[in-house]
Amino acid sequence: MANTIKTKVGIIGGGPSGLLLSQLLDLKGIDSVVLERRTRDYVLGRIRAGVLEQGFTDLMREAGVAERMDAEGEIHNGFEISDMGRLHHIDLKGLTGGDTVMVYGQTEVTRDLYDAREARGGKVIHEAMDVQPHDLTSDAPYITYTRDGEKCRVDCDFIVGADGFHGVSRKSIPEDQITEYEKVYPFGWLGILSETKPVHPELIYARSERGFALCSLRSQVLSRYYVQVPLDDKVEDWSDERFWDELKARLPEDVAAKLETGPSIEKSIAPLRSFVCEPMRYGNLFLAGDAAHIVPPTGAKGLNSAASDIYYLYHAMVAHYDEGDSTGLDSYSETALRRVWKAQRFSWWMTSMLHNFPDNPDFDRKIQNIELEYFLESEAARASLAENYVGLPF
Ligand code: FAD
Ligand code: DHB
Repeated sequence: MANTIKTKVGIIGGGPSGLLLSQLLDLKGIDSVVLERRTRDYVLGRIRAGVLEQGFTDLMREAGVAERMDAEGEIHNGFEISDMGRLHHIDLKGLTGGDTVMVYGQTEVTRDLYDAREARGGKVIHEAMDVQPHDLTSDAPYITYTRDGEKCRVDCDFIVGADGFHGVSRKSIPEDQITEYEKVYPFGWLGILSETKPVHPELIYARSERGFALCSLRSQVLSRYYVQVPLDDKVEDWSDERFWDELKARLPEDVAAKLETGPSIEKSIAPLRSFVCEPMRYGNLFLAGDAAHIVPPTGAKGLNSAASDIYYLYHAMVAHYDEGDSTGLDSYSETALRRVWKAQRFSWWMTSMLHNFPDNPDFDRKIQNIELEYFLESEAARASLAENYVGLPF
């Protein structure tokens, strides 16, 4: 084929996982090509995660892309849980012996990674259509795609599937070679972004009789808020006014009184899902990030779990190319999954504790009430919550 590129690692997906891996590998002299279906502007227009674990921010520093994050991101030492109208502070720093999280949006992370790849002459190919990985169990796997109507091909040693939940990579693995574990929740999150001052300096995770709400932020002039909504609700059902009224009704009165409202600049509904695909490797295809697992967003573990996969994969590939040691690649799936499942447990648990489950029997409701009460009263229980929220070690 005329348009054939040869590289070491062919990466499908130009989201944070794929870009971060290609940047880290490049710094170690390992060549890669990233194939992204969308335009750069489209990828940067998606509003997603906002809270980064310390392990993630350390990896951004290792990748040489942390300058703006360190200047503009906000370190948060704690967050609040609002239970039926009362705020309870979770002192992350105190409970973990010094660990914190960084508030810096996924959009900004991705923008910094794109800029860094461009500055180093990295190959990120946008609008790569009909991407298809081939010969996954051979020593010479390859990827085909179409660009501007032309058929193109990437020959490589390894393929990394970093193409998100709906990507082609996981679907290219024969069904009898993987097991998928899934839990779907009976609600979604309606989120808005608005150019208003955040209602509170720290995040508030709010449980109320009307359902869950989250007050988050991107900066001191950009707020991100969410409310739990039924699965069949549509964005069109929610005027800005209705959103603000509902959010206020789920917050403590004194917080609601301070809420600055304004026009939304983005509004979307995301369904909640827990999902894991095992194993995360098939032949020379390695899955990473949302391509292999999804968490419900409560607890902000989605992007952070993607980053831990990249950490393991990056180190395994460096050991393979620099020292001829493939043990890291061989154990990648097992190592990554151990941490993935811990993030799954935490996200499922926080979701279960803070949302309204309309069909739950009264017994379950009573347990849910007492569980939160216990967590808020017990220092040991709050320490466990904090340990997971700041991120378990890689
Ligand atoms: P993605 O960001 O999904 O990137 C995959 C990339 O692959 C995309 O750019 C996509 O266009 C590309 N792609 C897909 N198919 C193909 C193909 N066939 N060929 C080529 N390219 C392809 N996490 C949180 O922690 N907090 C949140 O608030 C939060 N909100 C979210 C809201 C939504 C609507 C979604 C979907 C996710 C949210 N997440 C959140 C999760 C978090 O954003 C993800 O965990 C994170 O984006 C994972 O990064 P990734 O690079 O693995 O996948
Ligand atoms: C955000 C999303 C989350 O799921 C979360 O737990 C914290 C923050 C956010 O988008 O800001």
